[in-house]
Amino acid sequence: MEASSMSLKKSIIVCLIAFPTLIMVTLMYQNSFFGQFEMFSKDMSMGGMTHNNVTSGGSNVTTNDFGLRQNVTHDNFGGRGKNDTNFKSSKNISLTNLTSTPPKEITDDEKEKLLDGLLVSGFDEASCVSRLQSHFYHKPSPHKPSPYLISKLRKYEELHRRCGPNTRAYNEDMKKITKSKKNGTSAATTCKYIIWLPANGLGNQIISMASSFLYALLTGRVMLVQFGKDKEGLFCEPFLNSTWLLPEKSPFWNAEKVQTYQSTIKMGGANTLNEDFPSALHVNLGYSPTSEERFFHCDHNQFLLSNIPLLFLEAGQYFVPSFFMTPIFKKELNKMFPEITSTFHHLGRYLFHPSNEAWELITSFYQQNLAKANERIGLQIRVVDPKLTPHQVVMNQILNCTLGNKLLPKVLGTKNIYLSSSDKNKKIMKAVLVSSLYRHYGENLKMTYMNKSTVSGEVIEVYQPSGEEQQKFNDNKHNMKAWVDIYLLSLSDVLVTTYQSTFGYVAKALGNSRPWILYNPVYSNEICEREFTLEPCYHYPPLHYCNGKPIEDVGSSFPYIRHCKDYTFGVKLVNASV
Ligand SMILES: *[C@@H]1O[C@H](CO)[C@@H](O)[C@H](O)[C@H]1NC(C)=O
Ligand SMILES: *[C@@H]1O[C@H](CO)[C@@H](O)[C@H](O)[C@H]1NC(C)=O
Ligand SMILES: *[C@@H]1O[C@H](CO)[C@@H](O)[C@H](O)[C@H]1NC(C)=O
Ligand SMILES: *[C@@H]1O[C@H](CO)[C@@H](O)[C@H](O)[C@H]1NC(C)=O
Ligand SMILES: *[C@@H]1O[C@H](CO)[C@@H](O)[C@H](O)[C@H]1NC(C)=O
Ligand SMILES: *[C@@H]1O[C@H](CO)[C@@H](O)[C@H](O)[C@H]1NC(C)=O
Ligand SMILES: *[C@@H]1O[C@H](CO)[C@@H](O)[C@H](O)[C@H]1NC(C)=O
Ligand SMILES: *[C@@H]1O[C@H](CO)[C@@H](O)[C@H](O)[C@H]1NC(C)=O
Ligand SMILES: *[C@@H]1O[C@H](CO)[C@@H](O)[C@H](O)[C@H]1NC(C)=O
Ligand SMILES: *[C@@H]1O[C@H](CO)[C@@H](O)[C@H](O)[C@H]1NC(C)=O
Repeated sequence: MEASSMSLKKSIIVCLIAFPTLIMVTLMYQNSFFGQFEMFSKDMSMGGMTHNNVTSGGSNVTTNDFGLRQNVTHDNFGGRGKNDTNFKSSKNISLTNLTSTPPKEITDDEKEKLLDGLLVSGFDEASCVSRLQSHFYHKPSPHKPSPYLISKLRKYEELHRRCGPNTRAYNEDMKKITKSKKNGTSAATTCKYIIWLPANGLGNQIISMASSFLYALLTGRVMLVQFGKDKEGLFCEPFLNSTWLLPEKSPFWNAEKVQTYQSTIKMGGANTLNEDFPSALHVNLGYSPTSEERFFHCDHNQFLLSNIPLLFLEAGQYFVPSFFMTPIFKKELNKMFPEITSTFHHLGRYLFHPSNEAWELITSFYQQNLAKANERIGLQIRVVDPKLTPHQVVMNQILNCTLGNKLLPKVLGTKNIYLSSSDKNKKIMKAVLVSSLYRHYGENLKMTYMNKSTVSGEVIEVYQPSGEEQQKFNDNKHNMKAWVDIYLLSLSDVLVTTYQSTFGYVAKALGNSRPWILYNPVYSNEICEREFTLEPCYHYPPLHYCNGKPIEDVGSSFPYIRHCKDYTFGVKLVNASV
């Protein structure tokens, strides 16, 4: 360790001498940006982009158990609505009788279940019912994973079975890495690893896990996740016959003692490539008020990192666009994702399956409230700062967007009409799912439509599964509610989400919907607009080319990358023709 930090120090000094102007400029640029950013960083609402200075615990959890019945059976999935041709009402699958499903050849049904080969068969199905049933709820996706992506995933699963926790390779490698950490030389290990570290809220964590997994695919590493109690029981294991959970007793549970990648490997870093490299390095790509350009998108740094057996990866961001800016990854990415804009759609559907507990909550809520509707409308409302955008402003914005674009009908006068239950059955019914920390929105909308007739004659019912008032971090129950909300939103036929919200990014990609985005009323004259890609926005993209020059026009240098409309500082993947 001593030796390596000496040589790293030398390289920092070289950097400081060689590039003082660049660093000055970088700091000035970022400071001015972060000054503006402060406004957003007060955000403590669910599902949003948040700063890294996370407050945890301390708040009181209001538990309403989603207002759900606990003893809903799974005999009838509710599915995508009774009138949908994809609705498989003829089948009875119960939670308790899944293990006995006999193995069979791949049928069309099986193909649909496995999402066109994205998923692999062979899992103990009772351990993760959602993997088997989610296709009853989501519309079939028109976006097919490429054969190359499928083969990469199958190879990855094999690698994970060989090198994951509890394997011989893993045990030996971890010993070597622990030892050589003290020894100051890089360990020659059988496998190489990424340990994903959480940052920010659940939405941020999901998009950063997907990004880290793609990085693992690109670099031949095994990805493990450090899940604290707050994420226990949210997701199924994604990789067949192995676990992705970093064992709690691992000496690497805490990344604190590990060197941090920031000023150590930068522009001049290539000169420091020697055996003094650490065995473990903490790569923090997250936002911090002092973070400078990391040059993570540069080939030379990727070569350096490839020598380090264990990387801790922390981002809280969808940093996938930076891979598309890295020349050495380009060819592989093009083969994996010939349709670039469904990258997260595939990664997300591959990795994130609700646990049985989450699935029970999702499906029972769906069956009780949403299945009977002719159309399901998801409204994801995130208030960044109630002082800047008071609830009334946001409510007006929502009504303006949904009424103006005919997603919801206008109310006819204030005349109360009484609907008998038989009348109700004859009506076209739209169910609105409101996802917000604030109950106010669901209640307000409910009152708008209660006992009122509408211009279209449609009956509007409004549901809000949770309303936590405050985003909570490191809180399992809160995360479970958030995950249920995200998934329910992804089952909507029409989706409206809030600018900059990672929560909305995940919902739209899992459900393959192009939502209406509510813009920030402080900065935008437009109320809302239809989204143009399924991809999340990378909020803190690289700002410099690898030679240190600032990137002035991202679109001209990187044909697949454009600035986001919901957060113009960020970038996202687009089709080259857009
Ligand atoms: C960040 O956290 C530190 C220590 O927990 C605290 O002193 C500081 O005020 C926090 N800053 C912000 C912006 O919340
Ligand atoms: C939690 O609730 C208790 C009792 O209602 C109250 O005394 C306490 O201050 C609350 N804590 C927080 C962090 O709100
Ligand atoms: C739950 O199940 C019990 C027994 O099966 C039944 O009596 C009860 O009505 C059910 N509760 C609800 C809310 O359906
Ligand atoms: C069900 O589907 C049929 C044929 O597609 C259509 O004519 C009918 O209006 C639908 N019913 C409802 C309630 O949507
Ligand atoms: C499904 O279960 C219901 C009641 O549990 C039964 O009436 C029906 O026949 C079953 N359907 C099939 C296809 O087994
Ligand atoms: C499970 O399903 C099999 C057929 O696949 C059936 O023979 C068996 O009786 C079922 N068991 C239970 C407990 O329902
Ligand atoms: C330290 O590293 C050297 C060189 O790789 C190796 O020979 C030696 O055994 C290591 N010492 C320990 C205690 O691991
Ligand atoms: C997964 O484990 C099961 C049960 O041990 C085994 O039958 C199966 O062959 C394994 N699959 C793979 C691909 O390793
Ligand atoms: C929405 O807002 C625009 C501009 O503020 C206004 O012209 C329009 O009438 C509003 N539409 C509705 C349905 O409220
Ligand atoms: C709607 O009608 C029901 C039954 O007639 C009544 O109990 C309720 O108070 C009404 N709500 C509103 C908001 O008018």
